[in-house]
Amino acid sequence: MLEADNLVKHFTEKKNADRQGSGKGRGTQPGLVKAVDGVSLSIASGTCFGLLGPNGAGKTTTVEMLEGIVQPTSGSVRYRGKPLGADFRQKAGIMFQNTALQDFMTVREALQMFGSFYSNTVPAEQLIEQCALSEFLDRDTGKLSGGQKQRLLLAVALVNDPEVIFLDEPTTGLDPQARRNFWSLVNDIKASGKTVVLTTHYMEEAALLCDELVFVDHGKVIAAGKPRDLLSDSFDDVLLELPAEAITSDLPAQPFHSATLHGQTVEISTRDINASIQYLLEHNVSLSGMQVRSRSLEDLFIELTGKDLRS
Ligand SMILES: Nc1ncnc2c1ncn2[C@@H]1O[C@H](COP(=O)(O)OP(=O)(O)O)[C@@H](O)[C@H]1O
Ligand SMILES: [Mg+2]
Repeated sequence: MLEADNLVKHFTEKKNADRQGSGKGRGTQPGLVKAVDGVSLSIASGTCFGLLGPNGAGKTTTVEMLEGIVQPTSGSVRYRGKPLGADFRQKAGIMFQNTALQDFMTVREALQMFGSFYSNTVPAEQLIEQCALSEFLDRDTGKLSGGQKQRLLLAVALVNDPEVIFLDEPTTGLDPQARRNFWSLVNDIKASGKTVVLTTHYMEEAALLCDELVFVDHGKVIAAGKPRDLLSDSFDDVLLELPAEAITSDLPAQPFHSATLHGQTVEISTRDINASIQYLLEHNVSLSGMQVRSRSLEDLFIELTGKDLRS
């Protein structure tokens, strides 16, 4: 449905042009920021496609080129096989990473205003129901909680009944409950057949919502695929976590693969969980406080880049 071919976006930072190696830039020329450095991707209709990466990775810049808002330095975007045209604005719904809403306007009025920009709109009542806005419809948009504001902005992104909806870090800064609440709205949007393009630095969010995803770092795609395939291609172990004091002697290389101390916890990697637990029991290791977990997208990101997604 949507395809990007070798997208590149360079920004020139005029203020820093005479300062060598300004903190932000990763170009070789002073003041040149290679925000996106050759990204190709292909988004199938009806799927949720995720761009996952740390702050400054180039997610927003990539998504804004897909939306037709930022002109690429080079490379191209195609929607249903054709270059993005003016009609794409009617087909796309956008929830920006930061949106300033008009002051002194209620939620209801904001919906009406954004609706008035399009020829083809969804009835307000449907959006109110879909995004659970009814409780604060007459509230000033400046007085909404983080979760309420994001629900309103989601409704705004849906106002033109788009085929594809772009959500740029929609849950950053929300509390865990508001985040879960938002995820269920996104799942409903997916179920209605719309294509969703999502950026996030929460691996849990990506694992839950995305059918396909790319890891982005320093403006490049460093891994791509279905979350489950990415994990099974990269890992064949599970992790067994035990309080450090439970392990009093060295563990053998079989059935254990490695053991790493993280603060008060030993993280043991094994390819044979049954044999591992049997060994620990036979050697009188206390299993109280033990946790067993599979590898996550966060582990994969650390493996690929050596750094934390949120760092
Ligand atoms: N308009 C701009 N001018 C200069 N640099 C920019 C601009 N927009 C983004 N950047 C830089 O490009 C890089 C990627 O930014 P962005 O796409 O916002 O990343 P992300 O959304 O993954 O956090 C960052 O180093 C950022 O500072
Ligand atoms: Mg961003």
